[in-house]
Amino acid sequence: MNLPKIRDDLSLLDGYHSPQVDVEIRLNTNESPIPPPIKLAEDLGQELLKVNWNRYPDRMASQLHRDIAKFHNVDSSMVLAANGSNEVLQSLLLTYGGFGRKASVFEPTYALHSHISALTGTEVIIGECSKDFTIEESTVNAVLQQGPDVLFLCSPNNPTGVVAEREFVESVIERCSSLGTLVIIDEAYGEFSDWSAVDLIREGSHIAVTKTFSKTWSMAGIRLGYVVAPSEIIENVRNVVLPYHLDSMKQIAGSLALQYIDDMHSRIDLLIEERERMARKLSDLPVRQWPSGANFILFRPSDEAKISGESLWEALLERSILVRNCSSWPRLEGCLRVTIGTTEENNSFLEHLEAILV
Ligand SMILES: Cc1ncc(COP(=O)(O)O)c(C=O)c1O
Repeated sequence: MNLPKIRDDLSLLDGYHSPQVDVEIRLNTNESPIPPPIKLAEDLGQELLKVNWNRYPDRMASQLHRDIAKFHNVDSSMVLAANGSNEVLQSLLLTYGGFGRKASVFEPTYALHSHISALTGTEVIIGECSKDFTIEESTVNAVLQQGPDVLFLCSPNNPTGVVAEREFVESVIERCSSLGTLVIIDEAYGEFSDWSAVDLIREGSHIAVTKTFSKTWSMAGIRLGYVVAPSEIIENVRNVVLPYHLDSMKQIAGSLALQYIDDMHSRIDLLIEERERMARKLSDLPVRQWPSGANFILFRPSDEAKISGESLWEALLERSILVRNCSSWPRLEGCLRVTIGTTEENNSFLEHLEAILV
């Protein structure tokens, strides 16, 4: 074999790994534990029978974009859907990042922001969150001095759960607009928190808000996400995505899901209630936890528990409970992240956790 060498900058990168282990209780990837309404699956089955499968899908995904736009009360020229919000992020970086460009992230945050930046040849500037995982103005200033083309915010942030305050985000957008930087706000968990940066989008503003059907819509299996942004940004990104990138099934599934908004809200209400219950129970155990505005909680065994994060993760796994092991990640030493599951799953997690820790 005489293959060309892969790009030098890629050879330094590790792929993205979230173990898919066969366990009884999976609380590691922030999926919804509750499936979408069965009627939605039935409607989808019916609609799929009508598709001309020998034809390419609607290249502009017009109906889906109109439906998403209606949901957010914006014009459909301000929406672009893709295969999961990861693909949306990749498309944004292919458009506004790339070789010779820079993207900034505030760590700890969603690993894919810097990973996709690196994949697209974009240099990554790292700003450090403070001890409570909020972002200080002085850190933003230091990052902006390095001239990023793109600045990532993630709210609620994965894996910390921290929701950025509206005034903070407004001030970052204002400064980025004057400097010519695009702010990408990743709201994969946005519906679990009490405000959305979509409300800040105006024509001409330097902001793109990414969303996904994977979490609040309970549709991780379909791989569908989108960006809401001023139409000029959408037009530019549209030139980058591959032709017919969004298949007919996804377009239909997304539009159908949007007919079940009330069901989506009741699933969110339930998960928020469970999150708060879980936080109360965790506060009785020897763990430190961080307040979350998402469908997961970051926590770490305290000294009193006399067990490392890694050993706790293993002990839970032995009991067939999988949570996310962040214990060896930079800035998250000893931390684990648990996704909010069903009441039964959460009870089981809490019982086993208590049995291990106390
Ligand atoms: C913050 C954040 N953004 C984006 C994604 C990717 O979502 P999708 O399934 O839409 O690609 C995730 C998935 O875990 C996430 O946590």
